[in-house]
Amino acid sequence: MSVTIIFGSDGGATKGVAAKLRKKCQGRSVDIKDATADDFENCHLLILGSPTYGDGTLQTDWEDNIAKLRGAKLAGRKVALFGTGDQVTYPFSFVDAMGILYDEVVELGAEVVGFTETEGYDFVESLAVREGKFVGLALDLDTQSGLTEKRVTAWLSQVLAFAPA
Ligand SMILES: Cc1cc2nc3c(=O)[nH]c(=O)nc-3n(C[C@H](O)[C@H](O)[C@H](O)COP(=O)(O)O)c2cc1C
Repeated sequence: MSVTIIFGSDGGATKGVAAKLRKKCQGRSVDIKDATADDFENCHLLILGSPTYGDGTLQTDWEDNIAKLRGAKLAGRKVALFGTGDQVTYPFSFVDAMGILYDEVVELGAEVVGFTETEGYDFVESLAVREGKFVGLALDLDTQSGLTEKRVTAWLSQVLAFAPA
């Protein structure tokens, strides 16, 4: 079972999460700046991650390279998402970028796996919440860094269960 993690990161937090995920599942992690069509398509499970910037936008390398994602053949493929954000400073746009990625991959016909509960977070609004759940793994390394390891481990076992053997 091969896992590819494609991430964007300004400050390194999301890159660090991608590395953590990679080590735990013996996968590959690729910066969206360097990603090719093969990186999106040649794996059993694709994981995409972005921090949120502005007041609810994708990280700039994702914005600059969004055509790579839009050109990927993801119809019928299982995709999992993670987002990094700060619920205290940005309670009205917490991990919005994960919701933006969700809409992009759903548009491509992908099946998103790995929704998570919103309990344990304190925010007002998020584009990444659909029907009461996060569409992926929401991480706040700014104000809840102590919960990261536990959240990553639980989520990874959840999404790997969906991936083909
Ligand atoms: C200018 C600025 C704007 C931000 N806007 C948001 C936001 O709207 N929503 C959110 O959840 N986090 C926001 N954040 C927090 C970042 O997403 C968070 O610090 C993240 O871990 C950064 O990841 P990186 O180090 O991989 O770039 C913002 C941070 C900065 C500096």
